[in-house]
Amino acid sequence: MSYADLFNLPASPYFLSHSVGCLAKKSELSLAENFLTPWKLSGGDAWQNWLNTVDLFCTALGQLLNANSTDFCPQTNLSSGLTKWLMALPTHSHKIRKRKVLMHEDAFPSMGYVVKAMQPLGFELVLIPAAESAANIQTWQRYVHGDIHCVLATHVHSNTGQVSPIQSIAQLCRQQSCYFAVDVAQSAGILPIDLSLWDVDVVFGSSVKWLCGGPGAGFMWLNPQSIEQLTPMDVGWFSHNDPFAMEITDFQYANGAKRFWGGTPNIAPYALALGSLQTILNIGLKTIFAHNRRLIELFLQGVNEGLLHPVDLANMGGTLCLEMPATRSEAICQRLDSHNCYFDTRGNVMRLSFHIYNSEQEVALLTDVFNQQ
Ligand SMILES: Cc1ncc(COP(=O)(O)O)c(C=O)c1O
Repeated sequence: MSYADLFNLPASPYFLSHSVGCLAKKSELSLAENFLTPWKLSGGDAWQNWLNTVDLFCTALGQLLNANSTDFCPQTNLSSGLTKWLMALPTHSHKIRKRKVLMHEDAFPSMGYVVKAMQPLGFELVLIPAAESAANIQTWQRYVHGDIHCVLATHVHSNTGQVSPIQSIAQLCRQQSCYFAVDVAQSAGILPIDLSLWDVDVVFGSSVKWLCGGPGAGFMWLNPQSIEQLTPMDVGWFSHNDPFAMEITDFQYANGAKRFWGGTPNIAPYALALGSLQTILNIGLKTIFAHNRRLIELFLQGVNEGLLHPVDLANMGGTLCLEMPATRSEAICQRLDSHNCYFDTRGNVMRLSFHIYNSEQEVALLTDVFNQQ
C-alpha cells in the first residue's frame, strides 16, 4: 500500500494542497467514531467522548509541533484567533496609545482585515512593502522598532512561498519588547516546526491545508510563560476555570490556553481533523517533507533551462510559486486544464503543491507541460 492510498484523491493530479488538503480516509472513520457514534448511542452523554476527542486533537498537534497539548486552544479559524488574542493583550503597556501591528504585505489578507477592523480600539496596521523580502532578516530589522506593539509573521507566505526567519524575528521582538505572533496556516503539516525553539507569544493555524483536516478545526498555541497576562474578552463557559461552576457573577479565567475557548465548542471538525492528523503523524513529517523536496527537485531538474526564474529551495514552503509572463502562464494553464490538473494562479504567479499523495509520474506530466513550446 502506498501513502497515497491513505487519502481520498480526485481522479486527476491534485496540486492544490496549499488551498485544501485531500481528505484522509481515517478522517471519515474518526468523524463517525468520535462524533457521530457517541451521539447516536448516548445523546447528550456524548460530551465526555466529544471533549476527549478535542483533547486527542490537541495531543496530536503537540506531537506534530513539539509542544504541550494543554497550550493549544481550538479556534474556528486564524482570523478569529488573532482578533481574540489582540483583544486580550494587556492594556497597561507603555505602547498602548500606538498599538501598531506590523506584518508583511504578503501576509494573508484576512489577518490584515482583522487589524483594520480593530482601528477603533487603537490598533493600526503597518505593512512591510511586498518588494522587500520577508525571508530576509534585514527586512524585519528595518521595521521592528520600539514603537511596534506586535509583529505578525507568516511562516510560509501563500502567494510567494517565502519562509519568514521566525527564530531571528523572535529575537528582534524580544529586544524591542514587541509581542510576536506567527501564522502557520501554510507550514503546519509540511515544514518541520519545533515550538519549543521558537520563543514566540502565540501561533495561529488551521487544519485546512497540508494537515488535510478540513475547515473548522483551527487552533492557537499560547506561550505558557505569558498566558496569565492575557485576558480574552470573547469568552464563555469553556473559558472558565471550572466550566460547571455555573455562578453567573463569578467568572474566572481557565489557567491555560483554554481561556480562549468561549462557549459551547465545535466538535465535528476536530473529530474529522483528528483522523488526518493521526495519518500525518503515522506517515511522519520528515517523510512528507523529504517527499515534497524530492518532487520539487525533480520538477526543477526536468524543466528546460531558462524557462523558470531561479527558485530558492532553502527558503520556501511546500508550494512552488512560479512567476511568469501572462502569455506563457495562459498557455501552461490551458495545457494543465486539458489534463484536468488541480492548481491555481494568483496574479502572475502559478501555485503548485506537492504532498505525500503526489507522485513522480505527476511531476513528469508537469515538466512535459512546462517544456512544450
Ligand atoms: C497564510 C495563511 N494564513 C491564513 C489563512 C486563512 O485564514 P483564516 O483561517 O482566518 O481563514 C490562509 C488561507 O489561505 C493562509 O494561506
